[in-house]
Amino acid sequence: MQIFFSAIIGYLLGSISFSYLIGRYKAGIDIRQHGSGNAGATNTLRVLGKKAAAIVFLADALKGVAAVFTSYLLTGSDTGMAVGGLAAIIGHNWPVFFNFRGGKGVATTIGVIVSVAFLPALFAGIVAIMLLLVTRIVSLASLVFLTFLPVTVLLSDLPAVYFWMSIVMAILSYWRHRTNIVRLLQGKENQIGR
Ligand code: G3P
Repeated sequence: MQIFFSAIIGYLLGSISFSYLIGRYKAGIDIRQHGSGNAGATNTLRVLGKKAAAIVFLADALKGVAAVFTSYLLTGSDTGMAVGGLAAIIGHNWPVFFNFRGGKGVATTIGVIVSVAFLPALFAGIVAIMLLLVTRIVSLASLVFLTFLPVTVLLSDLPAVYFWMSIVMAILSYWRHRTNIVRLLQGKENQIGR
């Protein structure tokens, strides 16, 4: 029963779309109707600038941390934390408060994975950041991060539930990045700063 509550609370936390809220507050716009149409930090950078994007990234990551922490308090179990964390990412991607049109879950995924698997997240993150610096393509770096994550988690001595959690994270991310993947394959994906 506690796991069920973890999932509900995680989903509701994840459903708070900070890019939408800051878009409304700062510019009176629906971020989903601008730039790439994604309710996330990268599109906030594109549409509203660096400061707003940094706030969105941090807040979206922190709701992942909050979901894991709440799940820890409720269940005290690795399975509970994995379920609560995944529920936050699902809430971010399909938010109940915003017509189920959210983001791609990368910042929230980072918040969740850093909370439960810091070193595997760090190693996958280093690869992704280097790729981002070279290509300036956030979606490519995000997908590579999510692809490496199950590998680095598997190589750690963490409970198996976190490996399965990272597999689900990767599947969710690939699904949400499908239009980005098409653009990447066509060589037409957006670069930041361009
Ligand atoms: O985290 C989302 C990022 O990977 C891509 O965002 O707006 O370029 O589709 P966007």
